[in-house]
Amino acid sequence: MLRALVHATPMNDAERLETVFKAYGHEIAAFLIEPIMGNCCSISATREYLHAARALCDRYGILMIIDEVKTGFRVARGGVQELFGVKSDLCTFAKAMGNGYPISVLAGREDIMRKLGKGVVHGGTFTCHSVALAAAEKTLEILAETPALQTIAEYGTKMRAGISQILRQRGIPHSFSGHPSMSGLFFSEQAPRNYRDWASSDYTFYDTMAPHLHDLGILCEPDSREPWFVCEAHDGKCLAETLERFETAVERVLQQNRSPGPAHQTG
Ligand SMILES: Cc1ncc(COP(=O)(O)O)c(C=O)c1O
Repeated sequence: MLRALVHATPMNDAERLETVFKAYGHEIAAFLIEPIMGNCCSISATREYLHAARALCDRYGILMIIDEVKTGFRVARGGVQELFGVKSDLCTFAKAMGNGYPISVLAGREDIMRKLGKGVVHGGTFTCHSVALAAAEKTLEILAETPALQTIAEYGTKMRAGISQILRQRGIPHSFSGHPSMSGLFFSEQAPRNYRDWASSDYTFYDTMAPHLHDLGILCEPDSREPWFVCEAHDGKCLAETLERFETAVERVLQQNRSPGPAHQTG
C-alpha cells in the first residue's frame, strides 16, 4: 500500500532524483533521507549528493526530512547535518540523545512546527515522559561539556586501523563506510554507494565471522548490515581485547574456508 505512495531512488544519484522530481514533483510532499544509513552498513550519502538533493528540494518546493535517529548526537553535536553542512526542513532524533532511555524528537522549521496542534496531531503514550526527558537533559549536558563524541570517533578510528592491519596482513580486501563512531565493515575493496550495491555484494565473510566473535565475547551485530556503534564507555583495554579477538575470529574463518565443516566451532 505505502509502496504506491513512495518513489524510491538510489542514494548518491542526483540525476535520478531530479528525473523523479521533474516527473512527479508537483505531487511529492517530502524527500526523506538517512544520509548515513544506520541499518545498512553506514552506507553514506556524499556531501555533493546531499547538497544537490537540498538544492533540488528547494527548486521543486519539496520538504527535506533527514532521519537522524542513529546519527543525531553521535557523529557530531549537530548530527549528520553539521557533518555535511546541510539543513533539513524537518528532522528526527532518538537513541543517543537519551543514552538508552526511550525518547524521540521531531525538530524543524518554525513555520512547519507551528502547524502542530492546528490540524496536525502529535501525541503518544510516552510523550513528555519525565524520566526520559531527565535522561536526555543530562545526556545533552554531558555531550555539551565533555569531548564524548570526539572520544568515540577516536576509538572508532583506532578500531578501523587495527582491523585494517589484521586484514591487510592476510591479504583480505576490505573497506569501511560511514563515520568512525558507527562504522560499516565490508569485505570488498570498495564500499557500496547505495543499498542496491550492498544487496549484490558478497557478505559471507562477515556472516561467517560474526558467530565466532560472539563465541569470543565480542557482541557485534550478526547481521552484516548493522554498523559497529562505539560506546563512550569503551576504553583502550576494550579496544585491545576486541582487536585480539577479531584476529582470532578472522583466523577461524580462514581455517573454516580452507576445510569447510560445521558452521562454526565454539570455545
Ligand atoms: C535510522 C532509524 N530511523 C527510524 C527508526 C524508527 O524509529 P521508531 O521505532 O521510533 O519509529 C529507527 C529504528 O530503530 C532507525 O534506526
